[in-house]
Amino acid sequence: MSKTKAADSYIAKHPIENSAYRHTYHVMPPVGWMNDPNGLCYAFGKYRFFYQFHPYAAAWGPMHWGYYTSDDMIAWELAPTALAPDEPYDKDGCFSGSAVMKDGKLYLLYTAVSGALQQQALACSEDGIAFEKRGVVIAWKDLPADASKTNFRDPKFFEKNGTYYAVIGSKHQEGAGQILLYRSGDLENWQYVGCPWRTDGDELMCECPDYCSLGGKDVLISSVQFLHREGWRNENEHTPRYITGEMDFSAGKFYPEIGDEIDSGFDFYAPQTFTTPDGRTVMIAWMQMWDRTYVTAPEGWVGAATLPRELTLKNGRLFQAPVREIEKYRTRPVKAKDLPILGERVVENVRGNKCELSFTLDLGTAARAGVKLFCGGQREVSLYYDREKELVIFDRSNMGVLVSGSSRERDALIRSVAVRVKDNRIKFRLFMDVSSLEVFLNDGERTLTGLVYSPKGADNIVFFSEGGPARLVKLEKYDIVV
Ligand code: FRU
Repeated sequence: MSKTKAADSYIAKHPIENSAYRHTYHVMPPVGWMNDPNGLCYAFGKYRFFYQFHPYAAAWGPMHWGYYTSDDMIAWELAPTALAPDEPYDKDGCFSGSAVMKDGKLYLLYTAVSGALQQQALACSEDGIAFEKRGVVIAWKDLPADASKTNFRDPKFFEKNGTYYAVIGSKHQEGAGQILLYRSGDLENWQYVGCPWRTDGDELMCECPDYCSLGGKDVLISSVQFLHREGWRNENEHTPRYITGEMDFSAGKFYPEIGDEIDSGFDFYAPQTFTTPDGRTVMIAWMQMWDRTYVTAPEGWVGAATLPRELTLKNGRLFQAPVREIEKYRTRPVKAKDLPILGERVVENVRGNKCELSFTLDLGTAARAGVKLFCGGQREVSLYYDREKELVIFDRSNMGVLVSGSSRERDALIRSVAVRVKDNRIKFRLFMDVSSLEVFLNDGERTLTGLVYSPKGADNIVFFSEGGPARLVKLEKYDIVV
């Protein structure tokens, strides 16, 4: 039996039956381990989502490409495992990569790992389901002389004015992280163009680079390993960042303008973008982080993907909004207006842990104001504005389960982000899904994504203010049922 078929038969025999934490409207592995989203695209009439997959344990292992398809990016259907590490050049893993349609065929470019070597290999499908490997097309000998041979991975390829380009993650031999640009006319033969981006500092690696074009700007994205903390930024061990600017595709040079971290929560890594048929740029990330306590591992699975998020640039900065397709799945609406908060306040019919909750918060004279979510059994997850710190804070320290990270991480229980307060107000839009919380602030100017593990049935929602009254100007809540 082929290795992809073996993975599918394992999946069929090992459904996850007892789980306290499975999400209800986010993509997760059917069993085993998921990390990076790969090969995001719309092809053969469906959205396609591949991912780094290790079926046989709820832990990272020899990487396969798991596979889901969808009509709307929200309801996903399991598809046969697309790639398995079954060739000499990829025997140690089919690492991250991307997808492109060319001449009616779907091509995957992924990192083939064999021993210490990381090279880029091509696979092709005529029906979008069965993939035939074509071998290594960008080899270690295609690297510039000053690049590490063992850190060369995660190609994101795309077409621009009739030429194919790939941005690939790399490490300079002196230790800086960098993104390399390659060019091809036919997807089989590739030439090195240049190094459009290199980080300052060393011991870094630019994983999962991505390129998209937004509002007339070129945007480079990369998940930078071991970036140093700067205030509330880069609090995780590894940080996905974006940089806007202009790319000179013929010289392989990038002229940067604005850069920042993409999400300020706990669990957001390896985002990849693609373009929908109606021209939206949509990004999906891994909703987990490396080196954490993997709370769901005893249930037989780890990892999920964020909601697909539409990207736009406003005043040069990145904004994120969940794709509008999610709104089709709203049920049981609750709407309210003008609710004063002094101390704690529960709003009639506003409870749940598989729902969307939006509110505009007038901060009044409160020192701190916000909401406690996933409340029950003395446990809660809180999200609030702290006026003195001028930060929105996501605090999961009292969620009920202790999560810790690597020794480099100062803390894995509290994250914060600066937001602009306009007219003394902040807009919150939250998506809760059993064990996850995605927060969009001020129409997606900032986001916080994190996993939360609370006691069974902890679904109370309590608004609060401390040190003075605050007010809910407007509130909307929907259950999300997919
Ligand atoms: C990022 C990453 C990639 C690599 C993949 C392996 O999360 O380390 O650089 O291709 O995961 O699973």
